[in-house]
Amino acid sequence: MNMSKRSLKYVPLLCLALVFTQCKTKTENASDNQEQNLTKEMTTKHQISTSEFGKLPSGEKITKYRLVNENGMEVDIINYGGIITNLKVPDKNGVNKDVVLGFNSLDGYLTPSPYFGAIIGRYGNRIAGGKFVIDGKEYTLALNDGKNHLHGGNKGFDKVVWEATQISNSKSVSLQLSYLSKDMEEGYPGNLKTTVTYTLDNSNSLKVKYEATSDKKTVVNLTQHSYFNLSGDFSKKILDHQIMINADAFLPVDATLIPTGEFRKVKGTPFNFTSAKAIGKEINSENEQLKRGLGYDHCWVLKDQDKGQRLAATAYDPKSGRFMEVFTDQPGIQFYTGNFLDGTLPAKGGGTYAKRTGFCLETQHYPDSPNQKDFPSVLLSPGEKYQTETSFKFSVK
Ligand code: BGC
Repeated sequence: MNMSKRSLKYVPLLCLALVFTQCKTKTENASDNQEQNLTKEMTTKHQISTSEFGKLPSGEKITKYRLVNENGMEVDIINYGGIITNLKVPDKNGVNKDVVLGFNSLDGYLTPSPYFGAIIGRYGNRIAGGKFVIDGKEYTLALNDGKNHLHGGNKGFDKVVWEATQISNSKSVSLQLSYLSKDMEEGYPGNLKTTVTYTLDNSNSLKVKYEATSDKKTVVNLTQHSYFNLSGDFSKKILDHQIMINADAFLPVDATLIPTGEFRKVKGTPFNFTSAKAIGKEINSENEQLKRGLGYDHCWVLKDQDKGQRLAATAYDPKSGRFMEVFTDQPGIQFYTGNFLDGTLPAKGGGTYAKRTGFCLETQHYPDSPNQKDFPSVLLSPGEKYQTETSFKFSVK
């Protein structure tokens, strides 16, 4: 009796504890559900999907990976050449349009293509005479650009099949591409293990991370060769796009587009993009360097080379309002204004790609560095890791 009396005394307390526990469980369940919903939302809005893009003459299937973020920005990448085939970003009215030049099908990329959207390697841009020396040994590369070597040779990284891995987390989606370039492939020494990871996040930034290691001393200079037209209309020239390049100097070139070795100040020349200006403003000026490049096709010497990631360049299309910022840790950026496009290649939306309907901003080491003693070194030794990152961030103004 006494016992039960004592127990009765505790009944209200027990009830309170029970109610509290139940409330707590309910709240936990609710937040669990919320989290589940959020994850569900994330995975529906923020994802990677795959489809077949075509077949190589060997019969090998090429896959297209579509990375989509929460804002609906879309990047299509194929495992052939690591090529970005489409990149859809919103304009100031929220209208998504494709802003990179490319082809509708794999066939376009299999016939000679001006490296539309591709990963470039082992060496971005030119190496004079296709020769360089490491430790007294001369290496000879293919001459695929007149008397020079360009963008890795006859079968560079733009023309190989990469092994693809999809990665996604709560903040971003990535496609990791790996390729082993065998010792002496295209004339370059060393087995070069390369990984390029594309990451799309919810701030509309597309990051490209490059990593490589070699078992012999070699030279490496990787880049991404997308041709942008922020208007989303490939029948329009890019001459009214405004470009800023964070550089006080550029590298003048000889008649075959090899840097002369001079670092020339941009001040007072058509090469001054320290404040944003229209590409077309001075592109046709009387200028020997513009004549040699048939427009802009030069490497700019970026500022703050010791600062790691920093803003290298911006591009703005006043009509659509699309704005692109390029961040990198690289010393240089090749600004190329599509001078060799000649209206023969079929455009994705119909018609053809005419001269200056796309521009490239290729972050990289300077062209011909292996042969230029005053340029930063591009040598990679066994035990070292080549590591660099570039981001293309899209917004509107
Ligand atoms: C080079 C150009 C070349 C283009 C396409 C650019 O990176 O600077 O000279 O024509 O790539 O091959």
